[in-house]
Parts: sequence; structure tokens; C-alpha cells
Amino acid sequence: MSTAPLPAASGETSEPHHVAIIMDGNGRWAKARGLPRVAGHRRGADAVRRVVRGAGELGIPVLTLFAFSTENWTRPADEVSDLMGLLRHYLRSELDELHKNGARLRVIGNRDGLASDIVRDIADAEKMTRNNNRIDVNICVNYGSRDEIVRAARNLAQRAVAGELTADGIDEGSFERELLTAGVPDPDLLIRTSGEQRISNFLLWQCAYAELVFVDTLWPDFGKEHLEQAVAEFRRRERRYGGVGS
Ligand code: FPP
Repeated sequence: MSTAPLPAASGETSEPHHVAIIMDGNGRWAKARGLPRVAGHRRGADAVRRVVRGAGELGIPVLTLFAFSTENWTRPADEVSDLMGLLRHYLRSELDELHKNGARLRVIGNRDGLASDIVRDIADAEKMTRNNNRIDVNICVNYGSRDEIVRAARNLAQRAVAGELTADGIDEGSFERELLTAGVPDPDLLIRTSGEQRISNFLLWQCAYAELVFVDTLWPDFGKEHLEQAVAEFRRRERRYGGVGS
């Protein structure tokens, strides 16, 4: 994440550069309709398509979506398989559209736990879209923030033991460069759908100064207009970064 200095605590809130979303409520959406949970996830994947398109239309430069956490492996095996199937389908069916619309796709998370064909599809999608610059779309898969932070600390410790750096040389910048999000600016706005008000091990370091917006809408019902409303709420916030504001 960005090592750039924090903006001045002017009290002014500009447009969000990076919007991150915890997509929640697929199961409840399905349950309310007497449908299996996978039906909610399928409609959730439709919402991903809508919101990626909507974010591009709204001029949001970076969009990050939490699709599968390191803790989601504890779900029943058929649900995990359904979610992986949807991800596989998304990577294959949306790639041309994403590319055509200038999206640079990046998948953030531990790839060791993923099926080899998905890892290959991710690599292909990232390669094909790497020079696009209209919108960065980051999809977090097998991602957990504590795991990410522990790995970053371990890497730095190993480099210190190898004599490549000193303990005193470790600062926020060198730490950020070890995170999976290296090179991605910190989120300005974090949205969670479905009325739950938790961060759930998502971008804990990176969201240090993010504005949090919790919306009641279940993820399968979420669309461009909800994104616009969350951005409008963001504009009403005064960001102070620990300062006193205006
Ligand atoms: C949370 O809802 C949602 C997830 C764990 C998965 C999110 C996945 C998608 C939106 C679809 C696939 C993604 C892509 C990128 C194609 P929940 O199941 O925990 O809902 P609940 O809290 O109502 O049970």
C-alpha cells in the first residue's frame, strides 16, 4: 500500500480514489427466497459484474472486492466448491469485457491454497490486463489480513537474519512493501453490505484511515446506485487523519 504521506488534515474530503467492499449477505438473500445458498452467490457474482462496471462509469480508479477469505474454507465443502466455480467462471467469462473496458485485474491473496487451473487463469488475466489504466480491479481470494501481516513480519525477519536490513531499518514503508497489496494505494472508503458492522480480517493495515460505510442492502441487490450513495456519504465525512480538521 502507499507509502505516500497522508493528505493534510484540511477537513476537505475529495472523491475516493480507492473503494474496497466486503460483499456480504448472499446467504441471507437466498434464504429469504427459499433458495440454496449457491443461488445467492450466483446473484452475488452478477452484482460483482454490475459494480465493476458501475465503478468504471463513476470514475473510481481502484476497486477492491473481498470474494473469499482464509476463513471461508471452513464452510461446507460444496459451498466452497460453488464459490471457486463462480470465481473460475468469472475469470473466464469476464476477462474480455474487463480488458475492453480498460480494467487492470489483480487477485490478492495466498495462491498456494487455490486449484492450479484457477492460479493459471489468474496469471493469464493479470498478464492480459496489466497495461490497462482506466480502473484497477482487485479481487481478494484466500485473503486474510492477519496472515498477510504475519507473513510480512516473517519476511522482514528473514531478511534481517540474512543481513539484508537492520531491525532499525524497518519502517512503515518497508513493511507495506511486504504486504500482498504492495503498490496499491490505501482504501479511502470501505463499504460492507448486509447490515453487518465488522471488518472481518479485511485490509486491517490498509484501512487505518478508511471511512467505513455500512449499508443494509444485501450484496446480490447492490448496484451502481448503492455505490453512488456510499460515495455521497463519503463526501459528507470530514477526514482528519488524527489531526484537528478545519
Ligand atoms: C458473503 O456472503 C459472501 C461471500 C463469502 C462470497 C462472495 C462471493 C461472491 C460475491 C460471488 C463470487 C465472486 C466473484 C468475484 C465472481 P455470505 O454467504 O456470508 O452471506 P450471509 O452472511 O448472508 O450468509
